[in-house]
Amino acid sequence: MLRTLAAAIGQQAGKEISLSGWVQARRDHGKIIFIDLRDASGLAQCVFTGGLGEELRPEWVVQVSGEVARRPENMVNKNLESGQWEVKCKDLKILSKAETPPLPLDTPGYDIDEEIRLKYRYLDLRRPRLQKNLRVRHKIIKFIRDYLDQRGFVEVETPILSKSTPEGARDYLVPARLHPGKFYALPQSPQQYKQLLMVAGLEKYYQIARCFRDEDTRGDRQPEFTQLDLEMSFVEKNDVMNLIEALYTELVKVLFPDKKIWQEPFPRFTHKEITEKYGSDKPDLRQDKNNPDELAFAWVTDFPFFEEIKEKVMPALRSSEGTKKWTFTHNPFSAPQGEHSTSALTQQYDLVLNGYEIGGGSIRAHQPEVLRQTLKTIGLDDKTIAENFGHMLEAFSFGAPPHGGIAMGLDRLAAILQNEPNIREVIAFPKTGDGRDPMMKAPGEVTKEQLNELWLDIKPSKKNKPS
Ligand code: AMO
Repeated sequence: MLRTLAAAIGQQAGKEISLSGWVQARRDHGKIIFIDLRDASGLAQCVFTGGLGEELRPEWVVQVSGEVARRPENMVNKNLESGQWEVKCKDLKILSKAETPPLPLDTPGYDIDEEIRLKYRYLDLRRPRLQKNLRVRHKIIKFIRDYLDQRGFVEVETPILSKSTPEGARDYLVPARLHPGKFYALPQSPQQYKQLLMVAGLEKYYQIARCFRDEDTRGDRQPEFTQLDLEMSFVEKNDVMNLIEALYTELVKVLFPDKKIWQEPFPRFTHKEITEKYGSDKPDLRQDKNNPDELAFAWVTDFPFFEEIKEKVMPALRSSEGTKKWTFTHNPFSAPQGEHSTSALTQQYDLVLNGYEIGGGSIRAHQPEVLRQTLKTIGLDDKTIAENFGHMLEAFSFGAPPHGGIAMGLDRLAAILQNEPNIREVIAFPKTGDGRDPMMKAPGEVTKEQLNELWLDIKPSKKNKPS
């Protein structure tokens, strides 16, 4: 018999059907036992008589068959898609038994210890809230892909095994077995590759891209996260901003019709204006901060190009000028405002939403001498420039189109749209606050043989850990 989905049993009224799924709950009324059977579509009530179903326990996986009948009037559940119907079960097949779950699955789960939730993430994900988060996230990404495809963008995959990139955070390094003492770095973003795709003539690139940054995890930060990464040739900053604004407005209207966008078009502030007015470059501009259905998007432009170093950045990119150390506020590939020289402001734009930075990008310096000049301005010497940026400068010497782009944080977007307080709630297998996966036990130790193959030795004690 073909399998019917739990939510759809009403369409089979009066017919014999078969359902497969998990026992969500079991209510024993003596001669009669009720089971809420759960599958990916939802719940269906199954009724057993004559001792059938007695041994069933929550989370067992079963196949049942029987006739779909209307529930007695007093048992109709208006909150359930299949709430008017039930299955009078004649047959029961136990496909898998289950241990008692080590965490409750019938609550939203926010108050459960993170360690337990992530150790048993495959159970945690059975929660309807998280099921919905994953399904909505899929819809957001599909919407973006379709929208950009219709506008001539090409999704291109770029390497994960790459070289250290200067995006401001620490790199994750991967030792190269075939090259003793050398390391790949996981990309902090596809920044350089997407610019090289512009040199290659792609003109409209995007990627749903995984990025890796070895930084302290917070509610809105994970060591690996997902960007909508995008780059375009022959554009000015308004072209990129208008495209993203139209895409996000349409996405909200189609997928989240209950949400209200605070101001359309999105208001635009200079960095100076917004920090002077709100004391932050990503203020929460909602009129009523208790209203989760309000979306206060705002653009921030005219960022300062350079800032004093506060956090650790790639040592190769640190420089000193007296006692002060300077770095880029965003990324070194941004074009300065004004024609040829470096200026104090950059052609950078950020999009903020309800107090979070949900994206940022810039028009790039596509002329090698402009890029070289900005690198020199923070005090990098010719050797460092050649080592870190030589390939970009060389690429730009072979006919680089003017170009610019943006990267949008998709985890943050999905969390805000789903009213979640933390991006971990919209990522299938996130890391803990200190960057571990308690389920896979990652990061983990490796064998002496593996280390030998990689030409590595581990320093004997934590005391030797570099600070
Ligand atoms: P940026 O570093 O600003 O820009 O990143 C773009 C967006 O990615 C999101 N984001 C994160 N989300 C979750 N966890 C993290 N650790 C994390 N870090 C960043 C934010 C942020 O706005 N290559 C440039 C973009 C460009 O210029 O085109 C870049 O990566 O929402």
